Amino acid sequence: MKIHCALFLALASALVVADDNCQKDVTVNSQEDLNQVSGCKSYSGSITIDGAPVANLNLAGVQQISGDLTIQNNGGLTSVVLPNLQSVGKLTLFNNTALTAITMGSLKSLDAFVCQNNPRVNTLTFTRGVPNLETFQIIDSSVATLPLLNFTSITNLELYGNRNLTNITLNNLSQVNGYISIVNNNREVTVSLPQLSSVGQNCTFANVQELSVPSLQKVKSNLNINDNQFKNFTMDKLESVASSVSIINNANLEAFSFAALTEIGGNLLVVNNTEIGALDGFPSLKAVDGSIDVRGTFANVSFDDLQDVKGGFNIMSTKGIDCSKLTGDYGSSSVTGGTWNCKDKSSTSDVTSTDNTESTSAALALRPIGDGRVGALTLGGFTLALFAAQQLL
Ligand SMILES: *[C@@H]1O[C@H](CO)[C@@H](O)[C@H](O)[C@H]1NC(C)=O
Ligand SMILES: *[C@@H]1O[C@H](CO)[C@@H](O)[C@H](O)[C@H]1NC(C)=O
Ligand SMILES: *[C@@H]1O[C@H](CO)[C@@H](O)[C@H](O)[C@H]1NC(C)=O
Ligand SMILES: *[C@@H]1O[C@H](CO)[C@@H](O)[C@H](O)[C@H]1NC(C)=O
Ligand SMILES: *[C@@H]1O[C@H](CO)[C@@H](O)[C@H](O)[C@H]1NC(C)=O
Ligand SMILES: *[C@@H]1O[C@H](CO)[C@@H](O)[C@H](O)[C@H]1NC(C)=O
Ligand SMILES: *[C@@H]1O[C@H](CO)[C@@H](O)[C@H](O)[C@H]1NC(C)=O
Ligand SMILES: *[C@@H]1O[C@H](CO)[C@@H](O)[C@H](O)[C@H]1NC(C)=O
Ligand SMILES: *[C@@H]1O[C@H](CO)[C@@H](O)[C@H](O)[C@H]1NC(C)=O
Repeated sequence: MKIHCALFLALASALVVADDNCQKDVTVNSQEDLNQVSGCKSYSGSITIDGAPVANLNLAGVQQISGDLTIQNNGGLTSVVLPNLQSVGKLTLFNNTALTAITMGSLKSLDAFVCQNNPRVNTLTFTRGVPNLETFQIIDSSVATLPLLNFTSITNLELYGNRNLTNITLNNLSQVNGYISIVNNNREVTVSLPQLSSVGQNCTFANVQELSVPSLQKVKSNLNINDNQFKNFTMDKLESVASSVSIINNANLEAFSFAALTEIGGNLLVVNNTEIGALDGFPSLKAVDGSIDVRGTFANVSFDDLQDVKGGFNIMSTKGIDCSKLTGDYGSSSVTGGTWNCKDKSSTSDVTSTDNTESTSAALALRPIGDGRVGALTLGGFTLALFAAQQLL
């Protein structure tokens, strides 16, 4: 009996291990190839399904893929069902132009999920939720409702160009170790990340209708709030941003508040937000390691606690700000290290310009900010935005 059992086990494992069809990187583009792969309970290697003439892809037999699974360029594919797949490396769905539904019935472990350029996808189902993973991206796809995204931490999260996506609510996400980018989804999109407290790299929100990040405390690279539709936002728990903060081109923005923000490691740029009445959203800001540049049509400017701007300080408004008072408050070299420049309604040129630096080089000359890579990239964007803003005023 004992012998029988052992023999049976040995045979069973020999069958699995010895099956050559289940253990190499493979590209599948015919029904025949597909049949072979779908017989593998455990696949050792990566599978790419590219240009296969199938309408409904159901890999019911596959439970584990040690490498990646890529499903791409299958023009006739309408549905993908992976009912029993429990673990895979990177799962990519790219350029499947007729694909409408993707169903993952058992997935509990994956490194990355990428759904890109699938213009008809509207249902994305992860029955077991999505576990903590490295990267989750949905890009230029027509997903209208997010699947159950109950991960608590992630490296990178990107939701870009999904025109049908109107609600981005991730109740359990607290930690983004890499970047978060929520850009150009439906113009009506609501973004709610109630527990998000820290972002390791860039944090970008663009084209958003309503933004709620009430627990955000730290952004360890750039914070970008550009081209949004909201009238106001608050980030009142945010304490520090390691690189730059930019608030650009938010056409309806009337007010914002960063009640607890004390330190910006790069530049502060607030330009072309034509509805802001008073630029007073930084009551606790003490130190800016780069430059400050604020331009627009606001009537008041105040930085109640500002003590140290290492770079230049540029304020311009076509409304009733008073440059003589502002120069008294911030223009001295004890506050502003670089060029001070204030231009109000009555100024025909930069009449209050003074240079607090030793050289006469521009306020926005390159300054090292954080690690060189981020600083250089940031300043590239900064200069561009300034140039554009100048045309507005
Ligand atoms: C998308 O897939 C189609 C086949 O369905 C292919 O002809 C086309 O080249 C692919 N496009 C890209 C950008 O890969
Ligand atoms: C996406 O939205 C457009 C416009 O509202 C609609 O015509 C289209 O059917 C939607 N696509 C999907 C896949 O839901
Ligand atoms: C996510 O949801 C699934 C299914 O409901 C559950 O098994 C899992 O524990 C949840 N994970 C978290 C972190 O809430
Ligand atoms: C969030 O996590 C809790 C457990 O901590 C779980 O019960 C809940 O279903 C999760 N919700 C979402 C939407 O992820
Ligand atoms: C967005 O979805 C969440 C659940 O995921 C729901 O609680 C919330 O009410 C929705 N918000 C809007 C504006 O529809
Ligand atoms: C923010 O805007 C919403 C509407 O977009 C409004 O209901 C709310 O009162 C505003 N809050 C503040 C503090 O201005
Ligand atoms: C600007 O400040 C003045 C004086 O402090 C105040 O009367 C006015 O209401 C403020 N304007 C705005 C738009 O906050
Ligand atoms: C961070 O943002 C900057 C400027 O917006 C960009 O150039 C850079 O590529 C971003 N870095 C990452 C890791 O996304
Ligand atoms: C400034 O905002 C207006 C109105 O939203 C927009 O048309 C214009 O392109 C913006 N300018 C720049 C330089 O971004």
